[in-house]
Amino acid sequence: MADSRIHSTLADAMIRVTEAAAVAAFDYSGRGDERMADQAAVDAMRTRLNQVEIKGRIVIGEGERDEAPMLYIGEDVGTGEGAEMDLALDPLEGTTLTAKAMSNALSVLAIAPHGTMLHSPDVYMDKLAIGPGYPDGVIDLDASPAENVLALAKEKGVDPKHLTVCVLDRPRHQELIASLRSVEARVVLIPDGDIAGVINTTDPTTGIDMYIGRGGAPEGVLAAAALKCIGGQMKARLVFRNDEEKGRARRVGIQDLTRIYDLADLVHDEAVFCATGVTKGGLLDGVSYSNGTVETETLIMTSFDHSTRRVRTRRPVSKA
Ligand code: FBP
Repeated sequence: MADSRIHSTLADAMIRVTEAAAVAAFDYSGRGDERMADQAAVDAMRTRLNQVEIKGRIVIGEGERDEAPMLYIGEDVGTGEGAEMDLALDPLEGTTLTAKAMSNALSVLAIAPHGTMLHSPDVYMDKLAIGPGYPDGVIDLDASPAENVLALAKEKGVDPKHLTVCVLDRPRHQELIASLRSVEARVVLIPDGDIAGVINTTDPTTGIDMYIGRGGAPEGVLAAAALKCIGGQMKARLVFRNDEEKGRARRVGIQDLTRIYDLADLVHDEAVFCATGVTKGGLLDGVSYSNGTVETETLIMTSFDHSTRRVRTRRPVSKA
């Protein structure tokens, strides 16, 4: 899709899609019901997506067909006219964050030409990411977290204690965190939302230098789409807890279950990435209401020209 018109038309349409999902999910913010919040986002995203002029196929979605009635993997979306595209989406990234009205919930969508994003099964993924500006090969998924910090600190020309690493706050990360702290790296623990965690490495104002840890594989592909647009490095490996999960991978055509994926293996052509804030966070403001209007903030990135835009939209509540 090396055509700037396709990119900007698509990008504009995508903004409308994630805005609608974010506004719908925000209605359930703080109401303690993760399922309702997610369902509202799914419904709104699907309705808007089906108005976009593409022949779209979901490759990362709400789950496999038998478990997700809407936005399932393999579902055709869009008007059926226009370019043939693959979609990776998470209508509500941070269902718990939304239910508890905590910061950093997002609505996320990435689009790329057909066959160019990893068809990842819904399993875990080990992820390691840094922002742009470093030579290839600085990070290594087979090295320890401490070794990765030391390598990055050397490249950045700083003491390891001046590197900040973002990690999902989970018991499974205890050893990983101990390794990071053994070289005095500063560890920022987040309760949920590792797409934002990865993207934060690309923005010097966040102070995050590295993202490391195990989280959802679908979120890994979405984060990779963002890094593809903005620059940065990522290494990833799928993690299988049982044979059923291995079966899921084989069903989507993955044979080598131990493979380490580079950014270019996760998303290997041009992509457009779009995220709207649901609840206010470090990356984006959340949905807000005033005087009969609703306001959203969206991040839209295109790999075609490596551009990042922030779009603030205010519209009457009746048109949201
Ligand atoms: P949800 O949107 O499904 O709540 O996922 C949030 C999230 O924190 C992701 O960002 C992350 O990849 C995954 O959950 C981690 O999974 P787990 O909660 O099982 O550790």
